[in-house]
Amino acid sequence: MKRAKIGGLGYYVPSRIVTNDDLAKLMNTSDEWIQERTGIKERRYIVPGEDTGANMAAKASRIAIERAGISPDDIDFIILGTLSPDMDFPGTGVLLQRELGLHNKGIGALDIRNQCSGFVYGLSIADQFIRTGMYKNILLVGVEIHSTGLEFNDRGRHISVIFGDGAGAAVIQVSDDEDKGILSTHLHADGSQAEELCTLNPGSVNSPRLAPEMIEDGSIFPHMNGRLVFKYAVQKFPEVIGEALTATGYKPEDIDLLIPHQANLRISEFVRRSLNLPEEKMYNNIQWYGNTTAASVPIALTEAWEKGLIKDNDLVCLAAFGSGFTWASALIRW
Ligand code: COA
Repeated sequence: MKRAKIGGLGYYVPSRIVTNDDLAKLMNTSDEWIQERTGIKERRYIVPGEDTGANMAAKASRIAIERAGISPDDIDFIILGTLSPDMDFPGTGVLLQRELGLHNKGIGALDIRNQCSGFVYGLSIADQFIRTGMYKNILLVGVEIHSTGLEFNDRGRHISVIFGDGAGAAVIQVSDDEDKGILSTHLHADGSQAEELCTLNPGSVNSPRLAPEMIEDGSIFPHMNGRLVFKYAVQKFPEVIGEALTATGYKPEDIDLLIPHQANLRISEFVRRSLNLPEEKMYNNIQWYGNTTAASVPIALTEAWEKGLIKDNDLVCLAAFGSGFTWASALIRW
């Protein structure tokens, strides 16, 4: 069976830069606290009336499609990961399809809800479709708009300082070289921890789904048990990377570049040290974009590729952990 590969990458982040000092004007926080606990210096927020999830996804996609050496018309399936769809339903995947002018072709568009692990989950889905021959050029996108759903006050400060907006895209195609491409994907979840990192409302279990009390009690904003998330993340990242290495017969030192979901610099550093990888073998850009959940892995992957940090034949490891809890890894021979 043929392997699937990433044939083209692209990303888009909004032009509006929000620094830690900007946030310190809205809540009791400081540049020092944010950098020390998370590594974040600044993040991007959408420009209202200009950026939408669908058009950010389309901007990232057009770059990825061009770099894959194909035209939008060649795309035969769309997979889109987001926890912040432009509207409650339908998903942003169909809006991206329309934005790219592909609606007349009627190609399928699948939205997935796996938060920070969304891109790696999507890569695994695309991998199966490509290897079975069902599709030839799958557009896989992670896109997120957090800035419109955060609480900019002291109650929300431990969450609001972390997240940012953006989009990353990849075109998944058949690999001509059977030794190259996606070597493995591993997907996991633990639903018993669902409420530890979630946005409860507006939820369909409530009638009405949205009420003024929900705004007042803050349940329309994300809730995060930061310490528990941290504890799980530093355990699950190395575990799922180890699973990928065991399944493919590689050792940590064989990894040329690790691209972890940009959750928190301290988490990533912990993972890097636990694998005994030197600094130059892990790519971080959380300093500039914050945590963009589903968009974080494809934005980081694209940037690393653009900087020439991924070379032909390199062994690249993607890994993610987030709300659900969900976690996942992918090993790619470039
Ligand atoms: N600015 C200043 N102080 C803040 C703050 C902010 N933005 N947010 C919280 N604090 C305060 C707390 O109120 C607390 O004060 P207290 O000691 O007076 O009660 C103190 O800082 C420590 O809070 P705590 O929540 O224990 O901090 P922490 O060391 O656990 O760091 C996180 C908080 C969120 C940075 C950390 O838990 C974390 O990174 N968790 C993982 C989060 C993550 O990666 N999420 C994404 C997963 S995909």
